[in-house]
Amino acid sequence: MSTDILLDISGLELRYGAAVAVRDISLSVKRGQLVAVIGNNGAGKSSMVRGASGLVRPSAGKVMFAGEDTTTLPANKKVSRGLVMVPEGRMLFPDQSVQDNLILGAYSHGGLKSARSRATLDKVLDLFPRLKERLNQQAGSMSGGEQQMLAIARGLMAEPELLIIDELSLGLAPKIVDQLIRVLADLNKAGLSILLVEQLASYALAIADHAYVVANGRVARQGPSSELARDPEVMEAFLGKKKSAA
Ligand SMILES: Nc1ncnc2c1ncn2[C@@H]1O[C@H](COP(=O)(O)OP(=O)(O)OP(=O)(O)O)[C@@H](O)[C@H]1O
Ligand SMILES: [Mg+2]
Repeated sequence: MSTDILLDISGLELRYGAAVAVRDISLSVKRGQLVAVIGNNGAGKSSMVRGASGLVRPSAGKVMFAGEDTTTLPANKKVSRGLVMVPEGRMLFPDQSVQDNLILGAYSHGGLKSARSRATLDKVLDLFPRLKERLNQQAGSMSGGEQQMLAIARGLMAEPELLIIDELSLGLAPKIVDQLIRVLADLNKAGLSILLVEQLASYALAIADHAYVVANGRVARQGPSSELARDPEVMEAFLGKKKSAA
């Protein structure tokens, strides 16, 4: 099997009790790629990501990561292997400081004990100077944009090979989304593989190499993002939510 495929999800099915949230999703991310997943509310995007990252155990299908079958591994084991997720809604520890949230991100590497983790922290803070200024601020008292920066930064502290981000733009102003999208594009250019789940399709398609449209727990469409961005059906279904001409 080709080793340039980092994440390879096949035939994924995921249930909550009797309810089927993901029916049959196959999706892959090659090393170095930025792949977008778009789809309407309730399509099964977050559930797919929970299945991929080990937060919910799939009821069928396979999750291969870096050539290893990780289908039944719990999330913490996947993090150690480099599969890191920034969850929808950020899930920070709001009463803890920015710094403590970042240290928790480095948990799989022993916190900040190693010189390597401290170097990672420096890199992450260079990427997000706003966080550097606010290391002692309570995470929950920061603006939505700052909290999303912190959620991404916390993910980066785990030194991912693949960073999965679920709903980057949630609750954020277009200007902030633009900024964060640029950060992701830069991280990807520097070699990080990214799977970006995003309802604002135009933002995601603008920086992705390849994209999947998820509907009713299945992959409805997929292709190079530039093609999907020009597809009238996709345009009508998703790009109506596009940012205004700004
Ligand atoms: N914990 C849960 N228990 C039961 N059903 C759930 C749970 N989480 C999600 N679902 C259901 O699974 C389906 C898929 O939801 P999911 O959150 O994966 O969609 P989504 O594409 O991420 O939507 P959104 O764009 O709103 O984030 C929905 O019908 C939802 O109600
Ligand atoms: Mg979701």
